[in-house]
Amino acid sequence: MPIRAAQASDLPQIVEIYNASIPGRMATADAEPVTVAAREPWFREFDPLTRPLWISVAPTGEIQGWLSLRSFYGRPAYRKTVEVGVYTAPAAQHRGIASALLAHALSSAPASGICTVLAFVFAHNVPSLRLFENAGFVRWGHLPGVAELDGIERDLDILGRRLA
Ligand SMILES: CC(C)(COP(=O)(O)OP(=O)(O)OC[C@H]1O[C@@H](n2cnc3c(N)ncnc32)[C@H](O)[C@@H]1OP(=O)(O)O)[C@@H](O)C(=O)NCCC(=O)NCCS
Repeated sequence: MPIRAAQASDLPQIVEIYNASIPGRMATADAEPVTVAAREPWFREFDPLTRPLWISVAPTGEIQGWLSLRSFYGRPAYRKTVEVGVYTAPAAQHRGIASALLAHALSSAPASGICTVLAFVFAHNVPSLRLFENAGFVRWGHLPGVAELDGIERDLDILGRRLA
């Protein structure tokens, strides 16, 4: 499946996929859908060479999933470390889209000067934990009860992988 860097015109579909994950209460701390306009500053922070936003595109041209690498902590000392986020459209899940995006991102990250990739994943998000563990990520941290979703306290795992 073709993977390419996202363009501004892809943002509505990217937001749609993100919003589709909110009701599941597994992926994001957002509780309400976000708007395309609200995500425009977020989108502008990406740079294909250093902080890419990758998308997987179906033969029909539809975006099936996306993966972001964002700066961690925003301080110069952490410039070689990124935080990954990955979302697959509900209709395209469980078909290897996220795995392919992650493999692509990890293989191209060293050329962007990235040495460490972190993933912040709710401990009850089994698909996401499997995705990252399959790609060689290891649990580096566990933050008990730091989130509350629908009145239920949730734990957050920090997964990490060092790149060669
Ligand atoms: C997590 C997510 C990105 C996985 O995307 P995907 O394209 O379906 O993933 P893949 O098809 O590449 O599968 C990756 C692993 O997850 C497992 N998986 C996928 N969907 C699953 C499900 N519904 N239940 C259990 N495991 C599941 C797959 O089996 C695979 O593991 P395996 O090879 O050991 O079987 C997708 O479920 C999603 O978008 N979820 C909502 C957003 C989210 O949680 N993002 C992660 C936060 S950063």
